[in-house]
Amino acid sequence: MQLMVVKNYHELSLEAAKFILKKIRRLPTITLGLATGGTPKGTYENLVLDYERNQTSYRDITTFNLDEYVGLEPTHQNSYRCYMDNHLFNLVNINKNNVFIPNGNVSDLEKECKRYDQLIKDKGGGDLQLLGIGKNGHIGFNEPGTSFESTTHVTELTLSTREANARYFESIEQVPTHAITVGLGTIMQSKEILLLVSGESKKVALARLLSGKVDEHFPASILANHPNVTIIADEAAVSKGG
Ligand code: GLP
Repeated sequence: MQLMVVKNYHELSLEAAKFILKKIRRLPTITLGLATGGTPKGTYENLVLDYERNQTSYRDITTFNLDEYVGLEPTHQNSYRCYMDNHLFNLVNINKNNVFIPNGNVSDLEKECKRYDQLIKDKGGGDLQLLGIGKNGHIGFNEPGTSFESTTHVTELTLSTREANARYFESIEQVPTHAITVGLGTIMQSKEILLLVSGESKKVALARLLSGKVDEHFPASILANHPNVTIIADEAAVSKGG
């Protein structure tokens, strides 16, 4: 795992966007795995700014999002579909037929998980997966204890994850209890991974990840087994001396 430490969230967002743009320019048909949450917002902002300035084209790109809440309409303001439309897809020239997000609002969730996982497999696992990390080490919505072999599946969110995401809802009761997430085994199939870590609240998680100890109770630790991972972290997320 390569670690790049930058001064603050602003720099992290610039560097992450630069990293992704370099890959898009090199491979205009790239398949990107995308993440939601607070951390990548600035990255998407910079991608959109670049699009406005330089017209980098998204026309031939395919994207797969990592996760989606169960039970929210895709048009719900807190659905990850809506997040992606608002922060990226509606603002660049991406072809919406090449945009994939699990649908958490279907009656047969198992079938949806299988369909989604197969779509990713058909694309060879993807070229670059963007990731954030939860305080408990979750990536996507793969909570502690998730099998390293897992494919796309329905997961029950932990209280700490629901509490962390309650800031986007009126109250914690409104945060869905379940989500569909791309599994850890599926994430590992991406040829390359870019993990963004920002802020003091992620310090403990980052230190644990960098220790290199691989443990199913800390989902992100699986990344130590991947041959091509870049971590961009800001100073607040990096422990002194670590
Ligand atoms: C969310 C998402 C993850 C994200 C993580 C951290 O619940 N499902 O994909 O990486 O939690 O979020 P944030 O970047 O807001 O700290």
